[in-house]
Amino acid sequence: MKNLQVKPSSGFKGEITIPGDKSISHRAIMLGALARGETVVNNFLMSADCLATVKCFREMGVQIADSRKPNTEGRMIIIGKGLHGLAKPKELLDVGNSGTTIRLISGVLAGQDFVTKITGDESIQKRPMRRIADPLRQMGADIDGIRKGEELYPPLKITGSKLTPSSYSLPVASAQVKSAILLAGLFASGETMVVEKVRSRDHTERLLKYYGAEIKTAGHEAKITGQKEFDGAEINVPGDISSAAFFLVAGAIIKESVLLIRNVGVNSTRTGIIDVLHRMGAEIDIENERILSEEPRADIIINSSKLRGIKLDGEIIPRIIDEIPIIAVAATQAEGVTEIRGAKELRIKESDRIKTVAAELRKFGAKIEELEDGLKITGPTRLKGAKIESYGDHRIAMAMAVAGLIAEGETVIENSDCIETSFPGFETLLQKLWSR
Ligand code: S3P
Repeated sequence: MKNLQVKPSSGFKGEITIPGDKSISHRAIMLGALARGETVVNNFLMSADCLATVKCFREMGVQIADSRKPNTEGRMIIIGKGLHGLAKPKELLDVGNSGTTIRLISGVLAGQDFVTKITGDESIQKRPMRRIADPLRQMGADIDGIRKGEELYPPLKITGSKLTPSSYSLPVASAQVKSAILLAGLFASGETMVVEKVRSRDHTERLLKYYGAEIKTAGHEAKITGQKEFDGAEINVPGDISSAAFFLVAGAIIKESVLLIRNVGVNSTRTGIIDVLHRMGAEIDIENERILSEEPRADIIINSSKLRGIKLDGEIIPRIIDEIPIIAVAATQAEGVTEIRGAKELRIKESDRIKTVAAELRKFGAKIEELEDGLKITGPTRLKGAKIESYGDHRIAMAMAVAGLIAEGETVIENSDCIETSFPGFETLLQKLWSR
């Protein structure tokens, strides 16, 4: 197991780029596999999670080639099979640590004429699957797994079927659930509708449009017409704002920093971190905004800033759901109280992030209180270097590494291999900024 050693930084300066967006990379592969003909995905995120999606589709007979040239960003070429071309996998499908893979692919598997068994690592086997099983069963698929009380956990057995369209109102704000239904909707004969109370990330809807599938969106509703083939496309994946978030916060809290991050995805369903940093008083600017492959992207400039505590609750939560660990780190340096509520979903991520963020930040000396549905942090606190556990959760490892950059003395992140899940090259980027 790897450890990551972090020392205090005297200012992050310069220009960086961040690897491709994880959510979009997964979806580009899935839709590319279901399209007719060739799809090229530029700036694909070559991380463990996205490669798990690639592996699953390869096992269903889809040709996917890593066509990176030396020193270039990730590039994948997929030869799509059309809606009815997937083959029954010979083995049990394994998604590793990837919740997005298992939840989204279940929507695809629900529409096949074969039975699939699918599982993942220890953390995946603790993640609730009723949220996808319920709507997919309503469409006619048979889904079973490990039942504990009312809940359902992987390994899952998915018996695909001729699906009937449905109309589903999401009980939790979850892009993974919404996307599983829309993907299943591709196989249903007729129009499937999903309605959400609070908007979650809409990459599936945008990418379906871009590929030419029959999808209509209005407000909080998306309608997909099934049994309509679509063709392969060339996709340019923007940098992942959830990965950029670690450097945005680092830039804001490390003295004498001025950091330019180029080509970051700024889809409004994902930009909660920018709004939060603005509200906390950070000097942050967005430049050069443009749209490619239906997804907006921009360059972001962050300067060291004096932050203040804020209250976060309600509609913003799904827009910052993956950024809460790093927002908590920012809050330790903000004047006053930061309170995050309505974020119970954090308890069922790669780790129980309410618990793990509180436990690890406390080791640095932060004043942090665990709430049932969030966190309460009082700042500013001078952090002290600590020995940190990652719990195998990539976002905990990276958030705590950023805390280490402003802590006195040395910080060691134990079990840091998990960073590969979403951000290969994180450590190299830290080294590069340290040495400037
Ligand atoms: C994701 C949706 C979110 C997010 C996850 C990626 C996606 O999960 O936390 O990292 O790509 O759809 P939920 O849908 O469970 O909120």
